[in-house]
Amino acid sequence: MATPAADLTAAASALTLTPEQEAAVAARFRAAMVAGLAGRPSPLKMLSSHLALPGGDERGLYLAIDFGGSNVRVQLVELLGGGKWLVRRQSAAPLKDPAGAYDYTVAAATGEQLFDFLAARIAPLVDDGRDYLLGHTFSFPCTQLDAGRAVLISWTKEISTAGVEGREVNALLAAALARRGLARIRPVAVINDTVGTLLAAAYRDPSADIAAICGTGHNTCYYDAARGTIINMESGNFDALPVTPWDDALDAASEHPGAQRLEKMAAGRYLGEIARLVLAAEGAPTDPPYSLATADLAAWLADGDGPRRRLAALIAERSARLVAATFRGVLAHIDPGGKKKHTIAIDGTLYEKMPGYAGTMAAALGSAPVLAKDGSGVGAAIAAALAASRR
Ligand code: BGC
Repeated sequence: MATPAADLTAAASALTLTPEQEAAVAARFRAAMVAGLAGRPSPLKMLSSHLALPGGDERGLYLAIDFGGSNVRVQLVELLGGGKWLVRRQSAAPLKDPAGAYDYTVAAATGEQLFDFLAARIAPLVDDGRDYLLGHTFSFPCTQLDAGRAVLISWTKEISTAGVEGREVNALLAAALARRGLARIRPVAVINDTVGTLLAAAYRDPSADIAAICGTGHNTCYYDAARGTIINMESGNFDALPVTPWDDALDAASEHPGAQRLEKMAAGRYLGEIARLVLAAEGAPTDPPYSLATADLAAWLADGDGPRRRLAALIAERSARLVAATFRGVLAHIDPGGKKKHTIAIDGTLYEKMPGYAGTMAAALGSAPVLAKDGSGVGAAIAAALAASRR
């Protein structure tokens, strides 16, 4: 691993946001929400989930899939009411085998193979002869036709599996379940992971109305009281941002140049690569793209040498501050007078594990978001309960 040059002066000034820049991000984000909701051109897709917030008394046994991009987790969840649940069974598997046996995330893999893999993971969770309703957390931008039907707009997080973009993901899942003899499992809901996190948080806490993922990817949703539905903003695609030359270089070399600019500055999939690009510009020997992971930055922050720790802190702090600024934009939109209590629920390894990240965000916001771990699995079960109660 390259040793950073000791002088990070240029990087420090380029990566440090001024209060004016943060205020501008918040204001532009709010304007982009308004434009997106009105159907005008906007980096924010503002996708309706067709789901309102739960009351906390939804009950029953549901299957849940949490398909995030790095791993797939399957769960059998019992909603107990009173804001409580139990995960009765669960398992998780990477979409890309670390030993190289398979990789369902690349263009050489097909949607059928990917969803067959998911169906195979679900099979051990179910009892023979029983019907199940399933909620599917699918963490990519989708046009939602109703609570159970969503069409993938485009892959993010550098995934490129063939034959899924433009398709209805629960139809692909149902076909895979049928191929495996699991037609008694009915996928009735499909949600974004931010929506799952919000549903799980609101199941226990009526003031939860914003949720975000700060993990491999980044995105935020909120409950739009005027419309009676949770809106997945796909905020990772927000782009009115103070970018650096390293951000532009990362973007140009990515799967989808121009897309997901906030995500490429703020999410775990990319923070290590930003560090690598800064180091290369500082004259460090060049390592291959993506050879530095966000976990390396976390390790540097925990106990790295001076320059490394400094660089990791700059990149992590910028991420937390950018995301906090977008939250300020959301709050200004949904509650301009600042009259109500709002719980912001956040899930994701970056928020949970990066030293100082949660603290920076709390300081930038003036109040602490709550860590809502593993909400997307339970959120899928809640979504299935909500969708089933409408039928
Ligand atoms: C996806 C979002 C998702 C986020 C967090 C982004 O890449 O576009 O749909 O919510 O990652 O997983």
